[in-house]
Amino acid sequence: MTSKILIIMGSSRSDGNTRKIVDVIMAKTNAELIDLNAYKISYFDYEHRNKSDDFVEIATKMMEYEHIIFATPIYWYAMSAQLKTFFDRMSDLLTIRKSLGRQFREGKTMYAVACSSDEVEYDGFWMPFQKTAEYLGMEYGGDLHGWIVENEIPEEGLQNINTFCDNIITTNEK
Ligand SMILES: Cc1cc2nc3c(=O)[nH]c(=O)nc-3n(C[C@H](O)[C@H](O)[C@H](O)COP(=O)(O)O)c2cc1C
Repeated sequence: MTSKILIIMGSSRSDGNTRKIVDVIMAKTNAELIDLNAYKISYFDYEHRNKSDDFVEIATKMMEYEHIIFATPIYWYAMSAQLKTFFDRMSDLLTIRKSLGRQFREGKTMYAVACSSDEVEYDGFWMPFQKTAEYLGMEYGGDLHGWIVENEIPEEGLQNINTFCDNIITTNEK
């Protein structure tokens, strides 16, 4: 199966807990990974003085995929600062990168994955993902909350990952 699935991960550690979940998803779906730690993405700038940083490289790469999964640890009840900075930069797609931005409307589906240290889910956590997908004209394909206990993904968490991946694979094959 050719990978049409891209994971964009924003965590403070490239080999941490979020990565454990991402690795399982990659193994099951043949997804490819962009780790935001390997790129220089600066804060949104109204003057676009940062237009030659790595944002456009990633945004261009995203166009090669139909399914885009954003993966983040939960830091203070919200997505990581790394991923939020990337989301802020997606505003460039509506201004100086409009032709790229329009391509998001061409049959792309967004998913979100969050990793925390326990099972508790926060009300409204997924809203920025759902609303961003809507705003960019993408489908919202669903989300997965994972958690890590003593450095391992618990059995229930693994089952949730399986269900999440099955949904993406089924959609990908349509
Ligand atoms: C700055 C910071 C804030 C956190 N805030 C939360 C939180 O609000 N809720 C929660 O359940 N876990 C919280 N955690 C725990 C992380 O979500 C958890 O350890 C996660 O698995 C870390 O993933 P990582 O290794 O990819 O960073 C926080 C951890 C850090 C470092």
